[in-house]
Amino acid sequence: MIIVKNCQQLQNARSEIQGTVALVTTMGNLHQGHLSLVEKAKQEADNVIVTIFVNPLQFSANEDLDSYPRTLTDDIEKLETLGVDLLFTPTNDDIYPEGMNSHTHVIVPSISYLYCGANRKRHFLGVTTIVCKLFNLTRPNVAIFGKKDFQQLTIIQKMVTDLAMPIKIIGMPTFRESSGLAMSSRNRYLSSEEKQQAATLYETLKWAEQQLKSGHSNYREIESIAITKLKERHFNVEYFNICQHTTLSPATDGDKKLVILCASKFRKPRLIDNIIVDLTPSL
Ligand code: PAF
Repeated sequence: MIIVKNCQQLQNARSEIQGTVALVTTMGNLHQGHLSLVEKAKQEADNVIVTIFVNPLQFSANEDLDSYPRTLTDDIEKLETLGVDLLFTPTNDDIYPEGMNSHTHVIVPSISYLYCGANRKRHFLGVTTIVCKLFNLTRPNVAIFGKKDFQQLTIIQKMVTDLAMPIKIIGMPTFRESSGLAMSSRNRYLSSEEKQQAATLYETLKWAEQQLKSGHSNYREIESIAITKLKERHFNVEYFNICQHTTLSPATDGDKKLVILCASKFRKPRLIDNIIVDLTPSL
């Protein structure tokens, strides 16, 4: 595996690559969920590029940028084992040489200010800016993202469509602990007992899915009961919404393809999760 540390080195290494390229962008601290994206990338293209960059532009002032887990040596070992071709590990100065506020920003309007963007106004601006830059530097044919960050995936897909970027975006299923808790680098802020309790988030999503599948069509009532259930279990719920699957607008009666999105603080970390529900009658 070739490891490059700045944009110039990456562009030089990219120009040597023959055949198709699949890209997996990460912030490091790789777990099984990330590794499943790399495995998919290997099936999709002749070459796999992985990036590790804890992007300051997508963190709010009160978030965990400084304490975000950085485990580069371990990550490199995992990526070597999987046979990744090229790894990019830039510094903040490489990506934002004049500072992140002077850098050009890429923003997908409206949808970036809902749900995970409602209280974190620059979060998705940070994501789309870095992803766009990484796309331009690596020129992938395919890019793989996790469905755990469903809103992020939807926004990146919209950016690619709107800006006519010739890149196929693939979303991969969420990897879960045996308790059902979605894997996340931030789960390390929880003890094993707390992780077990945190799985209530997924259980509540499954409960809401069941309500929908059994014909309960008062979506706002389901959301409100789910929030009450979570609060009773000491979750500090940010949102729990039944949404239309592609636009992410609040689902209404006729909508059949739905996604339930939720985010909540639990103990130290902020957890997000979702579940896709298809109510289209099967033939
Ligand atoms: O999902 C993540 O890890 C990040 O948001 C991403 C896509 C790598 C951009 O920094």
